[in-house]
Amino acid sequence: MTFASFPALRMRRGRSSSWMRAMLAEHRLHPSDLILPLFICAGEGCEEPIPALPGVSRWTVDRIGAQAKAAAALGIPCVALFPNTPAGLRTELAEEALNPDNLICRAVRAVKDACPEIGVLTDVALDPYTAHGHDGLVDDRGCVLNDETTAVLVEQALVQAEAGADIVAPSDMMDGRVGAIRQALEREGRCDTAIMAYTAKYASAFYGPFRDAVGSRGLLKGDKRGYQMDPANADEALREVALDVAEGADMVMVKPGLPYLDIVRSVREAFRVPVFAYQVSGEYAMIEHAAAAGAGDRDALILETLLAFKRAGATGVLTYHAMDAARLITRS
Ligand code: PBG
Repeated sequence: MTFASFPALRMRRGRSSSWMRAMLAEHRLHPSDLILPLFICAGEGCEEPIPALPGVSRWTVDRIGAQAKAAAALGIPCVALFPNTPAGLRTELAEEALNPDNLICRAVRAVKDACPEIGVLTDVALDPYTAHGHDGLVDDRGCVLNDETTAVLVEQALVQAEAGADIVAPSDMMDGRVGAIRQALEREGRCDTAIMAYTAKYASAFYGPFRDAVGSRGLLKGDKRGYQMDPANADEALREVALDVAEGADMVMVKPGLPYLDIVRSVREAFRVPVFAYQVSGEYAMIEHAAAAGAGDRDALILETLLAFKRAGATGVLTYHAMDAARLITRS
């Protein structure tokens, strides 16, 4: 490629006015790029603010439909639901995950009743239901068991699909779970239920506020490095994507978001499949705290970070800023 050089080419001509910048923009953020995570708590008529995530709340099932409606009105296509299971229902074997009347299943039905036009994604993993805070079943030594966990995850995915989830999203990082879930969905006649695999999910320090939100932080024994990916690895993410795509994942995810944009880009280039990024709780908190400390303009920080995902090749972003971002995009 050859380029003209100065003075024939003055790059600033392309930045000289608002209309010119709009005309030449290579990437754009749209509300349909955003998925809104919502937290559910037990009880009735309640909004419970989450101190670790300033501006984010847990909602009781009777209030969740209104949140989904507000998201849909802003053009957000999908919500991701996460339960804060009451402490008394968290057990070694996570039985509550399979209860068709658990918080998540009731929340799915409430969203579908209130707002049939929005997509509903549910998380498949046992951490909101286990007494030890791990995503799977553990043996005597505290090691998370792969195949035994997968068998429970399959049942959990079926229960969520039965409740009306449009997309089930395994976030547990067990080997072989995508294929096992896909087969079970087909067998049960649920060929329309999609799978968004948390494919390249790293053992990250950015998940802290989420664990507060779902009430698992204090419970977690040890860490998740035996199943989530090592932040040192990039090629390994492509091996994970190859497996999940072969096993039937409709879409894959990279998580966390901003610190892993290199992975988003290489997955997109290598596989050309829909790839979502999860701008996780710690990233949200960083922006909120930075803005509160006067380090930058909050609205601008939100839009600039979300646009970075698009530039990296993400199909969409799960973000706690989804509602604010959708409002800002629509206004500008
Ligand atoms: C649990 C799960 C986690 C997140 C989504 N699903 C936490 C973890 O793996 O410990 C994190 C999301 C966030 O930090 O916003 N399987």
